[in-house]
Amino acid sequence: MVYFLYLPSSYENQFNRSGRYKGNREMRSWYFILFVIVAGGVICAVSLIGSKDSTTQPIQFNHKRHIEEGMNCVDCHKQVEKGIHATIPNLKQCLLCHSDPQGSNKDEPKIREYAQRGEEIPWIQVNRLPGHVYFSHRVHIVMAKMDCSECHGDMKGRTNPVTSSQIGHLSMDKCMECHKQYNVSNDCLRCHK
Ligand code: HEC
Ligand code: HEC
Ligand code: HEC
Ligand code: HEC
Ligand code: HEC
Repeated sequence: MVYFLYLPSSYENQFNRSGRYKGNREMRSWYFILFVIVAGGVICAVSLIGSKDSTTQPIQFNHKRHIEEGMNCVDCHKQVEKGIHATIPNLKQCLLCHSDPQGSNKDEPKIREYAQRGEEIPWIQVNRLPGHVYFSHRVHIVMAKMDCSECHGDMKGRTNPVTSSQIGHLSMDKCMECHKQYNVSNDCLRCHK
């Protein structure tokens, strides 16, 4: 920005010296002001778009509605107490109830449309650590007895799908901070295998 602001005055000197550009000078500075306004607008727009959720999930899944039906996290995220990944449920699990219509939500019939086409629902996993980091759900849930909400916030009350990472706050420092509290080893090779 400093560079841009510096430009016109140097131009001005040039125009003054040569004389020939003098007539255009005012117009050129107007162009410059216009440029600054447009560029500023573009920068604002880009940062606004960047801060918006960029993921759209295929079905408006409603966690709260299903918890109210008496379901538990493990009924759908079946591996969460057994393995590394929690897993997102496959279509078969939805069809246990949704092979017949449930309620009047406009997204609900989509479940059977996927089934008719023989397709899985293409959910996008939004919480994801870089490939070089080892993280196990089982260890944190079964052995450390942590609640899902400690890392994922209030999923029980959530009425719309997850569209941006909830674990952005789980930087290496944060993982290690909690490990220190619990007296868990912070050996590099524990998390980087
Ligand atoms: C009826 C099945 C079902 C139940 C019960 C359920 N979930 Fe989910 N969960 C889903 C589906 C489908 C998605 C993908 C769509 C979405 O993001 O809402 C999902 C997504 C998630 C995600 C985001 C995954 C990612 O990274 O993309 C988290 C975290 C999650 N669930 C946690 C929970 C927790 C915690 C509970 C219990 C309080 C729970 N879920 C109960 C079906 C279920
Ligand atoms: C144990 C039974 C059961 C399972 C399994 C189940 N649902 Fe549901 N689902 C329901 C019931 C009951 C309703 C509420 C219907 C109503 O509004 O009366 C519902 C509602 C919905 C709705 C409408 C939400 C709203 O806001 O009204 C969607 C969408 C939906 N389910 C998607 C799914 C998907 C996707 C899966 C699989 C990941 C799934 N369900 C698994 C029982 C189930
Ligand atoms: C200590 C923090 C922590 C806790 C507690 C936690 N998660 Fe996660 N969760 C993560 C991290 C980190 C990821 C990303 C994992 C990856 O990239 O492999 C994740 C990813 C997920 C996903 C995406 C799909 C997948 O297979 O990993 C789901 C679904 C999920 N968690 C559900 C749950 C549920 C349900 C619980 C509670 C029973 C829970 N999580 C508890 C940190 C946590
Ligand atoms: C809020 C606390 C907390 C956070 C946040 C947390 N952990 Fe842990 N973690 C624990 C505890 C407690 C244990 C020890 C469980 C046990 O063995 O009883 C543990 C154990 C582990 C282990 C050891 C598993 C083994 O096989 O020995 C690994 C690896 C690990 N965590 C990775 C991570 C990573 C990666 C993150 C960040 C993405 C993370 N943890 C965030 C509390 C946490
Ligand atoms: C408790 C788990 C844990 C331990 C212990 C740990 N790391 Fe990490 N490390 C992570 C996580 C999680 C990330 C990814 C952070 C992110 O993407 O924000 C990471 C990222 C990194 C990166 C990539 C840097 C980057 O900016 O992406 C390097 C290099 C690294 N760790 C080195 C180390 C070294 C060296 C040690 C031992 C002193 C160590 N780590 C111990 C969890 C851990």
